[in-house]
Amino acid sequence: MSVEGVAEVDRFRLDGRVALVTGAASGLGHSIAAGLASYGAIVVGGDINDEGLDVTVKRIRAEGGTAIGVHCDVSDEASIEALFARVDEEFGRVDILVNDAFRPIDRVYPQDHELGPWEEAIQVNLTGYFLCARAAGRRMIARGQGGSIVNISSIAGSSGMGRGNFVYSVTKHGVIGLTRELAIEWARHGIRVNAIQPCQFLTPGLKKWIDAEPDPVALTKNLVRGIPLDRLGDPERDIVGPVVFLVSDAAAMVTGVVLPVDGGNLAFNAGGSKTW
Ligand SMILES: NC(=O)c1ccc[n+]([C@@H]2O[C@H](COP(=O)([O-])OP(=O)(O)OC[C@H]3O[C@@H](n4cnc5c(N)ncnc54)[C@H](O)[C@@H]3O)[C@@H](O)[C@H]2O)c1
Repeated sequence: MSVEGVAEVDRFRLDGRVALVTGAASGLGHSIAAGLASYGAIVVGGDINDEGLDVTVKRIRAEGGTAIGVHCDVSDEASIEALFARVDEEFGRVDILVNDAFRPIDRVYPQDHELGPWEEAIQVNLTGYFLCARAAGRRMIARGQGGSIVNISSIAGSSGMGRGNFVYSVTKHGVIGLTRELAIEWARHGIRVNAIQPCQFLTPGLKKWIDAEPDPVALTKNLVRGIPLDRLGDPERDIVGPVVFLVSDAAAMVTGVVLPVDGGNLAFNAGGSKTW
C-alpha cells in the first residue's frame, strides 16, 4: 500500500526530526527517547537527573542514534527556556515534544492536603507540561512547518482514583484538558497535540512505590486485577509504538485524541470495585 507514492511503513519514520523528551532519564521517558531515536529522530532529553540522562544518551548513541541530554527542571520557567535555547543553538528546530516528566507525590486525602505540596505537584505535572508545550509551540508556529506534541497523562486522567491520589489525579485530568485546548488552538498551525493514558507500567518510579508497600506481591496482583490483558505495562515493549504512531505522519489526521495504553483498564472500569 502506498499514499502519494510513500510506502505506508515510511510514514512511521522520524528521520531528521528533532524530538524533545522531558523525564528522559528514567522509566517511560527513557524508553520513549530510545524508541523515537530508533525511528530516526534526533533526541534531546531534558531531566533533573543528570546521571539517568547520561544513561539514556549513551544507550541511544550505542544503538546508532543521535542524542543529547540537557539538565532541565520543568518546574522552573527559566530552566525550560534554557533547554529550548540549547535546542535552538544545536539543531535550530523542534518537531516533536513529549511531555513526560513527573514528580512523585505523597498520597494524601483531600481534607488533609496542604497548599505547598499541592502547588509543587501542579507546578511539575501540569504547569511544566504547559510551559514546555508553549516553548515548543512558539517555535513550531514561527517555523511554519507544524509539529507534534504528546502529553503523558494516565488512566487517572479520566477516572477518579481515590485512596489519597488526589492531586496526582487532578493534574492528570488537567493534562487532558491542556491537550484538547492546544489541539484546537494550534490545529491551524499544523501542530497536532495528543495524550496517552498509561495504566500501571513497571518503571523505576512504580517499582519504588510498590516495593515500599507492606505486601508488594499482593499489591501487584491487585493492580493487575484491573487490567484485562492481565499484566502491568512494560516500558520497552508497550509505550514506544503508541508514541511513535502519534508523533509520526502515520497519524497526520489525529489530533486532540486521548489514547489509553492500559491493557483495557478504562474499557473495563468495574475493575475499580471497592469490595469484590
Ligand atoms: N509508571 C506508571 O505506572 C505510570 C502510569 C500512568 C502514567 N504514568 C506517567 O508516565 C510518566 C513517567 O512516569 P515514570 O513511571 O516513567 O516515572 P519515573 O519516576 O521513572 O520518571 C520520571 C522522570 O521525571 C523526572 N523529573 C522529576 N521531576 C522533574 C522536574 N522537575 N523536571 C524535569 N524532570 C523531572 C525524574 O527525574 C525522572 O527521570 C509520568 O508523567 C507519569 O505520571 C506512569
